[in-house]
This record gives sequence, C-alpha cells and structure tokens, in this order.
Amino acid sequence: MNGPPLLVVDRLCKRFGGVSAVADMDLTVPAGETLAIIGPNGAGKTTFYNLLSGRMKPSSGRITLRGRDITGLPPHRISRLGVSRSFQINNIFTEMTVRQNVEVAVTAKQGQSRRWANRASANRVVQQEAQSLLQQLGIAHLGAQPAGTISYGDKRLVEIAVVLATRPELVLLDEPTAGMTPEETARIIAMVRALAKTGRYTFLVTEHDMRVVFDVADRILVMHHGRELALGPPEAIRSNPDVRQAYLGDEETELVPA
Ligand SMILES: Nc1ncnc2c1ncn2[C@@H]1O[C@H](COP(=O)(O)OP(=O)(O)OP(=O)(O)O)[C@@H](O)[C@H]1O
Ligand SMILES: [Mg+2]
Repeated sequence: MNGPPLLVVDRLCKRFGGVSAVADMDLTVPAGETLAIIGPNGAGKTTFYNLLSGRMKPSSGRITLRGRDITGLPPHRISRLGVSRSFQINNIFTEMTVRQNVEVAVTAKQGQSRRWANRASANRVVQQEAQSLLQQLGIAHLGAQPAGTISYGDKRLVEIAVVLATRPELVLLDEPTAGMTPEETARIIAMVRALAKTGRYTFLVTEHDMRVVFDVADRILVMHHGRELALGPPEAIRSNPDVRQAYLGDEETELVPA
C-alpha cells in the first residue's frame, strides 16, 4: 500500500525518576503486520503500550500514525484515530452479559460517528455487529451469560471482542494468553492468526509464551531495559546470540518453544 507506514516511533523515551522504562525506541510498523514484543519482566513493554495509546505522555520522542503526529494526545483521541488496546488485567463489566459488553463497545464507537438517523436502525446495526464479533471470536454461544460467570479464557476473548468493537486499525494486545490453559492459549493463537489474515488489523502483541510468539509473529521486537535488543523475523530472533544471552539470565522464560 502507498502512503506513510501505519505506525512510526521515533526516539521514544519514558522516564520514571531515574528509571528509563522506554529508552530511545525507534520502530516502523507497516499496515497488516503482526509484531510480537517480548522481553523480560520490567523491559518496558506495557509502558511502550501506555505511550502508544496515550495513557502516558512520553518524556521525549515522537509517535506518528499514518503520518499524523499523535504524540501526547489523550487516549480517547488516539482511540478515535484507530488504536485500541487490551489490558494485562481483565477489563470487562462482570454484571453485564457477554453480548451487552460487546454492544456497549460498539455503541460507543457509533456514538462517535453520529451517522444514524433513527434509534431502531442504530440498535439493529449494533446488535448485528456485536453478534458478528462474538462469532468471529467463537464465543457467540456465551452471549446471554453474565460476563462474570464465564471462564477466565473466555473473559479474555470477550475483552478482545470489546477491543475490536471500536474498529481499530492498530490493535495492542498485552499478554493475551497470560494465565490461560494450553487449550485456551491455542484458541487465542488461532484467533489472532485468523484476524491477521483478514488484513484488516495490525497487531502488536506482548507475550511471555514463546510458542505464541513464534506462531503468530511476522516480526519480533525484543526489548531489554527499555531498549530494542533485536528486531527481525522469528528465525533470526531465535538464533540471535544477544537475545539468547539476555534470556539465559531469566530462568522463567524459555526462548525456544518446547
Ligand atoms: N507508573 C510507573 N511509575 C514508576 N515506574 C514505573 C511505572 N510503570 C512502569 N514502571 C517501571 O518501568 C519499567 C518497565 O515496566 P513495564 O511495566 O513497562 O515492563 P513490562 O515489560 O511490561 O513488564 P512485564 O513483563 O512484567 O509486564 C519497570 O522498571 C517498572 O518498574
Ligand atoms: Mg507488562
């Protein structure tokens, strides 16, 4: 596709007192890519998302989305421009049904566009769109269940449906498989791959599970102490000596999937 890349990050920094959580990050992400971001605990992955989504203002540097400078814009403006994120911690309304959670998110997006002449047709569109998202994520059968009563893995899928309800171009997933069973993890992998294949989304995915990373990523960015340690296709990252060394110090993380 012509025109500027979807996301360009230019010398981005975020300091907390003496800690550089994100330091001099440069990154260009073309539309349609699935980029996994890995790195040990405290490497700066979530902080990077907080900067991209506007939840935190950078100390310095620049973020552009399709050539437009979005640095320091508030989260709702960035969201309106097509960036949507999930949280490391589950973030849905437990007392509402699964369907209502997604409908609320679709309605919020529709309210922004104000192109609906009457309420009845607007409601129908919301219901159809919510239903289609539930189907895409394989949770349509749970639509009528209160969201608080479904399994943890299903809750995370609802959360992703809520993220996609805003029709984002750039989707930031923060550890989408954390705390999941192997079966639930496999479902998330399949889902991300299927969504990526549609070409409608560009994904940034932070993840500690290396099977997920190597299964879904077009490229992998390795962060270490807030900086880029390596960036490249999965095969190159797997055999990168710097990456191996950084991970050997972190016994909890296995670089090579079992
Ligand atoms: N709000 C904050 N105030 C102060 N320091 C912070 C804040 N948020 C993050 N940090 C620090 O910034 C560094 C990066 O943290 P961050 O949460 O971005 O790492 P991460 O890569 O997401 O880690 P994890 O894999 O554990 O989720 C850490 O040293 C952390 O303590
Ligand atoms: Mg994190």
